[in-house]
Amino acid sequence: MKIIDSILTDAASIAAIRKDIHAHPELCFQEVRTADVVAQQLTDWGIPIHRGMGTTGVIGIVHGRDGGACGRAVGLRADIDALPMQEFNTFAHASKHQGKMHACGHDGHTAMLLAAAKHFSKHRDFDGTVYLIFQPAEEGGGGAREMIKDGMFEKFPMQAVFGMHNWPGLEVGKFALSAGPVMASSNEFKITIHGKGSHAALPHNGIDPVPVACQMVQAFQTIISRNKKPLDAGVISVTMIHTGEATNVVPDVCEMQGTVRTFSVEVLDLIEQRMREVAQHTCAAFGATCSFEFERNYPPTVNHAAETAFAQGVMASVVGEANVVEQEPTMGAEDFSYMLQAVPGAYCFMGN
Ligand code: NI
Repeated sequence: MKIIDSILTDAASIAAIRKDIHAHPELCFQEVRTADVVAQQLTDWGIPIHRGMGTTGVIGIVHGRDGGACGRAVGLRADIDALPMQEFNTFAHASKHQGKMHACGHDGHTAMLLAAAKHFSKHRDFDGTVYLIFQPAEEGGGGAREMIKDGMFEKFPMQAVFGMHNWPGLEVGKFALSAGPVMASSNEFKITIHGKGSHAALPHNGIDPVPVACQMVQAFQTIISRNKKPLDAGVISVTMIHTGEATNVVPDVCEMQGTVRTFSVEVLDLIEQRMREVAQHTCAAFGATCSFEFERNYPPTVNHAAETAFAQGVMASVVGEANVVEQEPTMGAEDFSYMLQAVPGAYCFMGN
């Protein structure tokens, strides 16, 4: 029996699980009910579980026909958390939790990995062990990092790890997968410019932080166009500027925040250093001062060549070679990057 036919026999019950999870979305590290649903299903199918890794993470352990004796192991990962946004759909399985929604499709990821679990529980026609990794808090919480900190790869050693995301815009029935960087590092900055307030009609008595901020925003884009190599990808977006409370008062403080995205740590190092220099020297030029905070969140997601080729082969055997396409990198971010820093593997997109 082909894998896809085995999984299709359970399609209705798996869809029901997805709708149940969709109706009960939970945010970062609060996925208690979701973890319960996952744990119950795995247990019902005779799959031993380990709970509590990364707070609400669940790991299912499936040994092959050799009982795992050969020592080879792979991990398959699904993220299980939802987003803090209101659902306006009206179908029966719409979110029952005010202000929370499975808008990124992690309900689908969870159900898909459960479908794989159910298949494995019935067909242990492989050697070694498959670890089913149900990971919390992908949406900004770094759940992957927390599971690794809790010793996931020491407790459950594996030679490779694989993850996927549904991808709107990619045709249903297609996989997209490529070696190298596929998602960006995600980082946040906060710059507080300290000037000196004055009456707006007497600006010479103060130090206006507004023109300082304007200069800085313009200068930051020259880091992208003049400092990094043209072929290296990088984004600086100033997304918040907060200052002032009256039309006739020069404010004394201006606060700017935003995000930086890169595909490599080297480019990130360069951008952070140049932003710091531009911020401090621009302030100095105008007689202002500033504090510069830069926080690195998720690292870039970089697919390993051998595991990527392996996964492409498996996908081709399921959906045909023509339906396994190049993965266009995106400047979005993904905490599966932490797992790929620890263990070789690959992260793909699936048409949705
Ligand atoms: Ni997502």
